Amino acid sequence: MDPHRVDYTGDGISEADLLETPYASVRAWVDDAVRRSETEADVFEPLALSVASADPEGRPNVRTVLMRFLDERGPGFVTDLTSTKGRELTVNAHVAAALTWPAMYRAIRFRGRAVQLDEDEVRSYWVSRPWASRISAWASQQSQPVGSRADLEAAYAARAAEFPDHGSDDDVPVPDAWGGFRILCDEVELWAGRRNRLHDRLVHTRTGEGDLGDAGSWEVSRRQP
Ligand SMILES: Cc1cc2nc3c(=O)[nH]c(=O)nc-3n(C[C@H](O)[C@H](O)[C@H](O)COP(=O)(O)O)c2cc1C
Repeated sequence: MDPHRVDYTGDGISEADLLETPYASVRAWVDDAVRRSETEADVFEPLALSVASADPEGRPNVRTVLMRFLDERGPGFVTDLTSTKGRELTVNAHVAAALTWPAMYRAIRFRGRAVQLDEDEVRSYWVSRPWASRISAWASQQSQPVGSRADLEAAYAARAAEFPDHGSDDDVPVPDAWGGFRILCDEVELWAGRRNRLHDRLVHTRTGEGDLGDAGSWEVSRRQP
């Protein structure tokens, strides 16, 4: 088979398949992907989220993060707030993001505004990270140039010596620049690949002020594939 001509033989999604709120539908697909990743090798890192920001000239920038939060308010991720994405989203909160599971013929697209996670959320996530990951966050000024791999490893060793592993939540403080964003959505699309490229696209568009758990704040429309 020509790998560039794979037919997407998914079941698709119909209006009747949508759950009572956009959050419920998104959550169901995310849970499906996580479950599949636990049993099949064809879904790896089911929470890998492509996040697009724009620089001050309006030029887009995209990178992958892990979706560490998902609730009625929207998907969220952690990062270095002084990174390129952190700086861009702080100046211009308009953001787009996508979860893509090709093996399941499914993707979810989010558009909205990025808001910073609050301090409590950041801290409770921070203490759940392994010690070595917390040290790496201290060792890296994300997105800044570094002369060599050896410089990076020296920075890691210096931070490891500064904050030794005592097996406690307070071993390593939260760096000032470390935090994250949640995407407050205005649009959420569920895409399902079908035969002959005649895919399904169901788009939730904001019509009210409520979050993704408020059925009355959204309308659904179908878009051409
Ligand atoms: C699968 C995967 C997961 C990643 N998870 C994160 C993450 O959760 N947070 C993060 O800041 N970077 C993550 N990265 C690294 C980013 O893709 C990116 O290199 C980094 O955040 C710097 O991006 P920026 O310079 O545009 O800010 C991940 C990369 C991959 C491939």
